Amino acid sequence: MRGLFLLISQGQRESRFVMMDATPNLDIPPTRSTIAIVGLGYVGLPLSLQFCRRGSPVLGLDIDPKKIELLNAAKSYIHHIPSETIHEQVSTGKLRATTDFSEIATCRAVIICVPTPLNKNREPDISYVLSTGQAIAPHLKPGMLVVLESTTYPGTTDGELREVLEAGSGLSAGKDFFLAFSPEREDPGNPDSVVAKIPKIVGGYSPKCLEKAVELYRCALDSVVPVSSCRAAEATKLLENIFRSVNIALVNELKLVYEAMGIDIWEVIEAAKTKPFGFMPFYPGPGLGGHCIPIDPFYLTWKAREFGMSTRFIELAGEINTSMPEHVVHRLADALNETGKPLRNSRILLVGLAYKANVDDDRESPGYVLMDKLVSKGALVSFYDPYIPVIRPSREHGHWAGTKSIAWDRQVIESFDAVLIATAHRDVNYQQLGQWANLIVDTRNAMHGLECSARIVKA
Ligand SMILES: NC(=O)c1ccc[n+]([C@@H]2O[C@H](COP(=O)([O-])OP(=O)(O)OC[C@H]3O[C@@H](n4cnc5c(N)ncnc54)[C@H](O)[C@@H]3O)[C@@H](O)[C@H]2O)c1
Repeated sequence: MRGLFLLISQGQRESRFVMMDATPNLDIPPTRSTIAIVGLGYVGLPLSLQFCRRGSPVLGLDIDPKKIELLNAAKSYIHHIPSETIHEQVSTGKLRATTDFSEIATCRAVIICVPTPLNKNREPDISYVLSTGQAIAPHLKPGMLVVLESTTYPGTTDGELREVLEAGSGLSAGKDFFLAFSPEREDPGNPDSVVAKIPKIVGGYSPKCLEKAVELYRCALDSVVPVSSCRAAEATKLLENIFRSVNIALVNELKLVYEAMGIDIWEVIEAAKTKPFGFMPFYPGPGLGGHCIPIDPFYLTWKAREFGMSTRFIELAGEINTSMPEHVVHRLADALNETGKPLRNSRILLVGLAYKANVDDDRESPGYVLMDKLVSKGALVSFYDPYIPVIRPSREHGHWAGTKSIAWDRQVIESFDAVLIATAHRDVNYQQLGQWANLIVDTRNAMHGLECSARIVKA
């Protein structure tokens, strides 16, 4: 803990901590060893399993009774998490799930991993965080630790969340209970990404809150990185995601410029990657997807306005990234045109509907934007995705709900006028695709180096 105390004293110099009066003895009774994890999605479930693996029992909470039922039956609902992994923890009693928030009273800590989307005006929607806070508050006990993991703007944890917890419990943060923020760095679909090995940023509401949160995560993770405040931890997560969004926009723009010059951006990135310092590769694509990169930067944009600040990089990156599907549709229309076909009534197969490779997550996927744009121009659109056999109901893409992935079959694929690769899953046989398809518009360089009879157009 020496390093921690050093960092705490730096934090105090910057006066980011809230200093409390002499705290009562908040040591947690040894009987309360369970950790409650609220929100058992892409973030909450892997985190729960990691705590269990290192010996901490976990009580999982979610408002979705279907998830609770599946978890207690040791069945996975996330493609890259095998049911056997869940079974190992459920069968030994380490992991149990419930919708009953009153059980939180028996836990020593509560970690919140609920969604933080944008509302229809593209402003932060922290209602899930606040309703979770309201559900936790009546069961909060002295000495408990509450940690928010959901990505959000600086000031959510020590502002809105703290107020809700204090109002509903009658307890004070930093005095009666501990409060912290620790952003998630989950990298779904990356087989080299192991939750335990990813350093965990932690910021506390007070020095004691930080100490308790660091102690909690050290139980489960190899490396914990304390920062001076909840706000610094919230801002760290936003920096990471803004960095990605801006760099992806940069390569997307360069792709268009180089395309006009007859230069292949993919070849250029491969060459630039050989520089052993000062360069990090980012790759172009048909637009941004997922729960984080298209959304989180705008949490900062919104908050910055309160301080009279603008976020021009974020907005420019957003503009470039959201214009990419339009570019891809133009490339596809031009490629069809060269074979004497209009988009109208052409049969188009979109390959890869998930927002990134090797996952079943289709939230904010540019694949939907592409399919909608193609349909609006009269094209007849189908999709193939080995991770998404059927499109689930959702608020954003309700009109696609129930649509099934086509079968991977030569005759079926030959019947399409064009194939559009939007996401390059590992499990797709691109060699066969290159032999079966007529025309492939490739936004991911998936066909690079393959012998094909199809015409390949990069987009
Ligand atoms: N998915 C990622 O790769 C990733 C990575 C880093 C950070 N994050 C952030 O983590 C947070 C969670 O993301 P996710 O991808 O796990 O979302 P998710 O949609 O997969 O899971 C969220 C879960 O919370 C549940 N939930 C919603 N409201 C609730 C409530 N009031 N009480 C209890 N449960 C509730 C939902 O039913 C769902 O199971 C978000 O802020 C996201 O930005 C996600």
